[in-house]
Amino acid sequence: MKKTIRDYDLEGKKVIIRVDFNVPIKDGIIKDDNRIVESLRTINYAIEHRAKVILMSHLGRVKEEADLVKNNLEPVSRRLAELINKEVIFVNATRGEELESAINNLQNGDVLLMQNTRFEDLEGKKESKNDPELGKYWASLGDIYINDAFGTAHRAHASNVGIASILPNGVGFLIEEELEAFDKVTNNPVRPYTVILGGSKVSDKIEVIKHLVETADHILIGGGMMFTFLKAQGYEVGKSLLEEEFIGFCKEMLEKYPEKIILPLDCVCGKELSNDTNIRACQVSDIHEDEMGLDLSMLTFNLFGKYIEESKTIVWNGPLGAFEYEKFADGTKVLCKVLAELTKNGVTTIIGGGDTAAAAIEFGYKESFTHISTGGGASLELLAGKELPGIAIMMES
Ligand code: 3PG
Repeated sequence: MKKTIRDYDLEGKKVIIRVDFNVPIKDGIIKDDNRIVESLRTINYAIEHRAKVILMSHLGRVKEEADLVKNNLEPVSRRLAELINKEVIFVNATRGEELESAINNLQNGDVLLMQNTRFEDLEGKKESKNDPELGKYWASLGDIYINDAFGTAHRAHASNVGIASILPNGVGFLIEEELEAFDKVTNNPVRPYTVILGGSKVSDKIEVIKHLVETADHILIGGGMMFTFLKAQGYEVGKSLLEEEFIGFCKEMLEKYPEKIILPLDCVCGKELSNDTNIRACQVSDIHEDEMGLDLSMLTFNLFGKYIEESKTIVWNGPLGAFEYEKFADGTKVLCKVLAELTKNGVTTIIGGGDTAAAAIEFGYKESFTHISTGGGASLELLAGKELPGIAIMMES
């Protein structure tokens, strides 16, 4: 068991909380604030326990000057202030006098958000490569370090691994909840245990597939990644998403685990990725050269339904179709509905991946599953049986 925020007396202490505020922002508007909302329990707990709260997060990737404008955390500080109904002191710096004096002026219960930790990546990738001097400097700003950035736990950054290797530390409520949820699937899941994988690329899921063929009972494949599997089975997939270089991998998996990997029987096709395109449902053997598969259809719903309905533990990562377009959202919506029903009947259902979580929340299912993870890459690494460096470094109680 890891130490947690509850193990510390926070009153009057400078408490650095690493959160994952890496949220989609367009033209200064936050498109999905779920990660901010899920950080509130820890932030509010620290405020209520009269800590001087110093928040750190990355946002996007910073490679050139232009990224400093695009990935400014300031809009997040405004949204956070609304959510906690309290001033958030935003410091547009990641080091130096302005930051240090703002921290020294904090009163108990105040909240400060520092600028994007990855601004330190501009020269020498100091944050992303866990530069020891940077970790040491940030650690010098606080007394206690709390990590609640589950979405970043698969990275070894200065703002998680670096600081945690120096300061007394513990995990926050979100990380605690995420670990508890994933423990239900990575440690003796109640069987049958079924995993549904979607999303656009097989290449993102190689490691997880390799691990799941050994640990899950069935893996149902949808989303854009299904077409590389279908091609490996010998079907023509028209203009559908295809990763030629991974056909060999899919073939190998299908040959070795024919009973475990379940592929769709049909799909919804269109000529364009647009709500204005004409669509038709067809068997996977009948995708025309000028069409792309963009969602699942009835034969597959029935086939997948049989596996899903007899499962006791279900993990879902990756949308089943191009759900952002009304015409191609059915597969993802139907799955949300079925899983919500099963959850009511005591089945463990865990949803992971940024797009999948966004889809489930957008379709009104935020409270309908056992757990919706805030981690994309982090949840895949856990499912692939790997250790997360941002959590491994945290102190044991
Ligand atoms: C995520 O969104 O998966 C995390 O915030 C990590 O972001 P990254 O992939 O840019 O490291």
